[in-house]
Amino acid sequence: MTAKKRVLSGIQPSGSLTIGNYLGALKQWVARQDRYDCFFCVVDMHAITVPQNADDLRHKTREVAAIYLAAGLNPDKAAIFVQSHVAAHAELAWILTCMTPIGWLQRMTQFKDKSAKQQQDSIGTGLLNYPSLMAADILLYQAHEVPVGDDQRQHLELTRDLAQRFNHLYGETFVLPEAMIPEAGARIMGLDNPTAKMSKSDESEYHAVYLLDTPDVIRKKVMKSVTDSGRDIRFSDEPEKAGVNNLLTIYQAFSGQSREAVEAHFASARGYGDLKKGVAELIIEHLRPLQETHHRLMHEPGYLDRILADGAARAHAVADATLARVKTSIGFLPPLASS
Ligand code: TYM
Repeated sequence: MTAKKRVLSGIQPSGSLTIGNYLGALKQWVARQDRYDCFFCVVDMHAITVPQNADDLRHKTREVAAIYLAAGLNPDKAAIFVQSHVAAHAELAWILTCMTPIGWLQRMTQFKDKSAKQQQDSIGTGLLNYPSLMAADILLYQAHEVPVGDDQRQHLELTRDLAQRFNHLYGETFVLPEAMIPEAGARIMGLDNPTAKMSKSDESEYHAVYLLDTPDVIRKKVMKSVTDSGRDIRFSDEPEKAGVNNLLTIYQAFSGQSREAVEAHFASARGYGDLKKGVAELIIEHLRPLQETHHRLMHEPGYLDRILADGAARAHAVADATLARVKTSIGFLPPLASS
């Protein structure tokens, strides 16, 4: 029997999860859990690269873990855990930080975008070092595949570069991971501005559909989404059709249909109103079971915490072994076990 390939991915508990997080990441995770040895973490250490309120962070961490389960992850198959529960992430991140050229980090689009939104003298160094921590998350588990949205492509390239650099300096240690980016839904755009990626930290009310939005709110947001002055319902790269293209992409990714089938579905629509109604109802229908399960789980914190403890134990077993090898390779003196 050949060993299953390993998968690792994570989401930051830094805001309310959006349908972008679901379509770009979560949905792909669920699809992999039967065939792969899976590790999925709630990356709270990444969330603190920008300021967080302590109580909110604790609540969001549980909320995101509950969403993982509600989206269909099975804790008997996938290890579900909180990043800060496994200290090896911080330790390997430091070792990799020492091997990461500053220039590589300064080139990261996410760093440039996020730092532009903050006052220069209040940007924490963690925001710059963020990709070294992400590389540690992935490399600790010797992950072959990392299912993520399109915006993480650059971080995955940096992870591979770091793995290669380490393997070159110290001998074959890390598996080179590959980004798994879905064909449909890898880059869901903002409903209020279809030229900007849908983000969980955008403040505008009509920007994102959150996974926990009520049906009425979802309808309102989708009906208000920005389109163009035409009535042509087709996939398109033309900048003025970005809004319609985004709605069709959301429909395609939720329904799992081909582009042709989606266009055929809307061929008899009377205008964008019909398109928007169709998209809103499909989102509502898909999110209903997720929301019901999530609601139930949030009332069972003991159950959730046990799953996270079990996930952390499984994560420890793999991560600690990798970290021990790395420490030996780079010359850290092993501590004598105390008697
Ligand atoms: P985060 O928390 O910003 O996003 C979580 C996942 O959702 C995807 N995503 C999207 N996909 C499609 N359309 C969108 N509008 C959209 N917005 C977000 C992201 O690509 C991501 O897959 N650095 C990561 C978290 C992380 C991680 C890791 C991921 C930390 N360590 C190790 C994989 C492996 C991040 O900020 O994701």
